Amino acid sequence: MSDKTILRALAGETLPTPPVWMMRQAGRYLPEYRATRAQAGDFLSLCYTPDLAAEVTLQPIRRYGFDAAILFADILLLPQALGVDLWFETGEGPRMSTVTSQEGLRTLKGKDDIHEHLAPVYETVRILSRELPRETTLIGFCGAPWTVATYMIAGRGSKDQAAAHALKDTDRATFKAIIDLLTDASIEYLSKQVEAGAEVVKIFDSWAGSLKGQDFTDFAVEPTRRMVETLKARHPGLPVIAFPREAGEGYIGFAKATGADCVALDNSVSPEWAAANVQVDGCVQGNMDPRHMVTGGDELIEATRRVVRAFENGPHIFNLGHGITPEADPENVSLMMETIRNP
Ligand code: CP3
Repeated sequence: MSDKTILRALAGETLPTPPVWMMRQAGRYLPEYRATRAQAGDFLSLCYTPDLAAEVTLQPIRRYGFDAAILFADILLLPQALGVDLWFETGEGPRMSTVTSQEGLRTLKGKDDIHEHLAPVYETVRILSRELPRETTLIGFCGAPWTVATYMIAGRGSKDQAAAHALKDTDRATFKAIIDLLTDASIEYLSKQVEAGAEVVKIFDSWAGSLKGQDFTDFAVEPTRRMVETLKARHPGLPVIAFPREAGEGYIGFAKATGADCVALDNSVSPEWAAANVQVDGCVQGNMDPRHMVTGGDELIEATRRVVRAFENGPHIFNLGHGITPEADPENVSLMMETIRNP
């Protein structure tokens, strides 16, 4: 039996104490992250400097002893490797050159031509697989094709993903070609992460919630299913976590439909509902509201206990429903850890 509790939960084991990690656990709420980021200069330089990216990945493990470390990188490095221009506007977020036509698509690289650009990411994974404590699981990741496409088509983040929906509804062929390229390239990207030492991969579909009905099946379920199928054929036994954020009812049956070993839940669904409707099919991850990491106190303790209790009769990885925010108090993370481990 593995001494890695994350791998045991992903294999379907119900553990007396759920293993735990946090989305965005390496991030601006930590003073040591801000110091390393300042040393790197900017966010993208941090992502592409293996020693520093490995260092920020390790910081929350040293401070809190999380059961998993997630590679420090970003979902938008993949489109950048395909040839899209990418930069981050301070205080605003990502900006990219847009791809909205067949001509635009023809300027991009092929799925196998991304590895030179992404070599520093693979090097970060190699450093981490050497340096992590032996009980800590290393998670690699990428964005799901739909979520990455929403940034490529709009050139930035957007609340309603209107530009991507418009292309999907007016130029289906181009939209499908973008999704297919991202699906194929993501498979190659995750494969290299696994070869470098990632033990689990997670697919972030942050905007899955804006796909409805058949679109959800075609562009959230199907690309993930194809990725899982190909990755598991190449890397037998590789556990996959899928995060179709804000899928709502779409969470039901998502693991079966995609072949994912674990469904990560956002905090818009109640843990009791998710235990009854999603955890019945296997491991779930989530789903405390990240605002408790800002507000803390008894409410944080109660919310932590509620999530632990709701999922205690099945396989569960404790996490937040979305990333921890820069305003969070590092002390509140300690309080959450104590509450999970000594309820
Ligand atoms: O979780 C982790 O700690 C691993 C590293 C990681 C980052 N981004 C680092 C990051 C992961 C897994 C991501 C995923 C990611 N990136 C997603 C999907 C998950 C989600 O949050 O919904 C998305 C949509 C992105 C794209 C992205 N990157 C945006 C929209 C932004 C700006 C918003 C923000 O939080 O500032 C980023 C920047 C980013 N990615 C930061 C970090 C730590 C902040 C950069 C900084 O230090 O200034």
